Amino acid sequence: MVDQSKLAQESNRNLRAKDKESEKEKKNPHHVMIFGASSGIALEFARPFADRKARFTLIARDEDKLKDISADLYTRGAKNVAIVCYSLDALEGSYAATKEIIKQTEAPDTVLIAHGILGDNDALMKSPQAMDLLFRVNVLSPIGILMALEEAMGERKRGTIAVISSVAGDRGRASNFAYGSTKSAISEFTSGLRARLLPKGVFVLTVKPGMVATAMTEHLPRSPLMASPKKVSRDIIKAISQKTPVLYTPSFWRLIMFIIRHLPEFIFSRLKF
Ligand SMILES: NC(=O)c1ccc[n+]([C@@H]2O[C@H](COP(=O)([O-])OP(=O)(O)OC[C@H]3O[C@@H](n4cnc5c(N)ncnc54)[C@H](OP(=O)(O)O)[C@@H]3O)[C@@H](O)[C@H]2O)c1
Repeated sequence: MVDQSKLAQESNRNLRAKDKESEKEKKNPHHVMIFGASSGIALEFARPFADRKARFTLIARDEDKLKDISADLYTRGAKNVAIVCYSLDALEGSYAATKEIIKQTEAPDTVLIAHGILGDNDALMKSPQAMDLLFRVNVLSPIGILMALEEAMGERKRGTIAVISSVAGDRGRASNFAYGSTKSAISEFTSGLRARLLPKGVFVLTVKPGMVATAMTEHLPRSPLMASPKKVSRDIIKAISQKTPVLYTPSFWRLIMFIIRHLPEFIFSRLKF
């Protein structure tokens, strides 16, 4: 038989624990730090945290965009939004900037690294400057940020770092292997960092979206495979709570990329995509 008094005691205990938790959150709100905060995916990622009264540190290169995003998050309930205007295009610069930002705002609870550029593969193959910039923004800058985060978050022994890679990093295709190889580097870097930070209680999530309808893909024809930034950001938040190490989003990309990765080279190298 169910003991009603025990049930009541249990539910009172749960309520008291919840009250304590929200008291703690009020005093010390969840700190979300976003690099590349003006990205379409990043904005959708930030909004549910603002609803839960988090505080933010947003880093991007365009001050006007940062101000607009900050206003949006305050309207939703953000406790505090600090904005840092910085171009994330170098390893040492991004490392030093991240260290300074952490010194001033404290180590974050949740981080999203979202900045990136796509580029046109044919144009990139003809421009050493453009290729150099692609690797600096997509690979070297995130690595500098991750090095600084490893020190700070590893010391504090908690938190989550989500890094946006791409399905394009799973196998180099003729039409976009330059961008794909930057994402492959980030997927591998975050895989190793995840293992390194696991014993320290810091969770590293590698996010592999397929095509997403953001400013980055504005010039491309719309396709049924294209996801909304809202769908992708919800999947990221779920993967953080479930501690999924590698997220394919939407999930059907896991199967598509499994097939692509396993196509024999003599077939794959003849495909025009
Ligand atoms: N859209 C897709 O189909 C897709 C698919 C797979 C993976 N991804 C990845 O998802 C991430 C977010 O992209 P998105 O789709 O949200 O596209 P987006 O809206 O175009 O976001 C890209 C962001 O990168 C920022 N950025 C570029 N160069 C920068 C620099 N030097 N310094 C600082 N920030 C810089 C942009 O800043 P500005 O606003 O100043 O330009 C923008 O905020 C990227 O890493 C991208 O590679 C996207």
